[in-house]
Amino acid sequence: MLKNEWKEKGFVDEPIAEGTDLKTEIRRLCKEKDAVILAHYYTVGEIQEVADFIGDSLALAQKAAKTDAKIIVMCGVHFMAETCKILCPEKMVLCPDLNAGCSLADSCKAEDLKKYKEEHPGYKVVSYVNTTADVKALTDIVVTSGNAKKIVDSMPKDEKIIFGPDYNLGSYINSVTGREMLLWNGGCHVHERFSVEGIIRLKKEHPDALVLAHPECKGSVLTLADVVGSTAVILKHCIESDKKEFIIATESGILHEIERQCEGKTFYPVPPEMSEDTIGCSCNECNYMKLNSLSKIYNALKYEWPTVDVPEDIRKEAVKPIERMLELS
Ligand code: 13P
Ligand code: SF4
Repeated sequence: MLKNEWKEKGFVDEPIAEGTDLKTEIRRLCKEKDAVILAHYYTVGEIQEVADFIGDSLALAQKAAKTDAKIIVMCGVHFMAETCKILCPEKMVLCPDLNAGCSLADSCKAEDLKKYKEEHPGYKVVSYVNTTADVKALTDIVVTSGNAKKIVDSMPKDEKIIFGPDYNLGSYINSVTGREMLLWNGGCHVHERFSVEGIIRLKKEHPDALVLAHPECKGSVLTLADVVGSTAVILKHCIESDKKEFIIATESGILHEIERQCEGKTFYPVPPEMSEDTIGCSCNECNYMKLNSLSKIYNALKYEWPTVDVPEDIRKEAVKPIERMLELS
């Protein structure tokens, strides 16, 4: 029986019995209930270790679209769970903590986008996957950081495009495609604050290191990067490069998988800019991603809650631009 207190909190807050081996219990529940755990690279290491599949947002959507499991436990943030539900309406989608939002998705409200579309007739809307289902329902095609260039390149050269909500990703895509898309002024609170001075200092200390940055970082950071790409692209470069040192400008959770796959190489996370809330902080973390924990996953599987649901009228519209993206990826 779900307690009202848990519903208010947005996750099942049941204490775990002493001595419980959470990883073993989670795997047991997955088997018993035919559940699959999908985890983003930004979740903590122990979640990545217990997951069936880890990946960037594109790979997670592709995996969700193909899974046969009855339950999907999406260990990422809320819009990722929503994307799973949009693609798999017949499945139960669990989001271990409903408070796992995204500052970027929050920066674009459906009513504001609707108004902007009305002010710009004839424009196609290209939305980053970091958006709510309501925004996707107003979108012509969804992109991720892993396929945005390819998808924008596939559109007619004279197409008028509104790109949202990430301003930095949109600017970067404009610069590499030669487009002049209209850009929404949204951003990610983690990627926007990487320190340019921090990269310059790290580069001085480690002159041979390759600088890798996520395209959600601001332009002044991307200018200093040798490689700009999604979390999966950053990981791939670290694995395949002959270099031994890397300066990483993305959320620090990715280091778990990078370090696992790149023995003998060294990684330097770029620090955030100094401000009142970052003093003493050596790395950038997405506080939303870090809301996922083994105990919340265990309780979500045990109680089959919190589920993520999308009203059918919204889902029917939102699935179209996601499927267009998957066809082109
Ligand atoms: P990826 O598409 O690289 O997984 O990034 C998702 C994200 O939320 C970055 O902040
Ligand atoms: Fe959203 Fe930024 Fe967290 Fe990615 S890192 S999930 S864009 S808040």
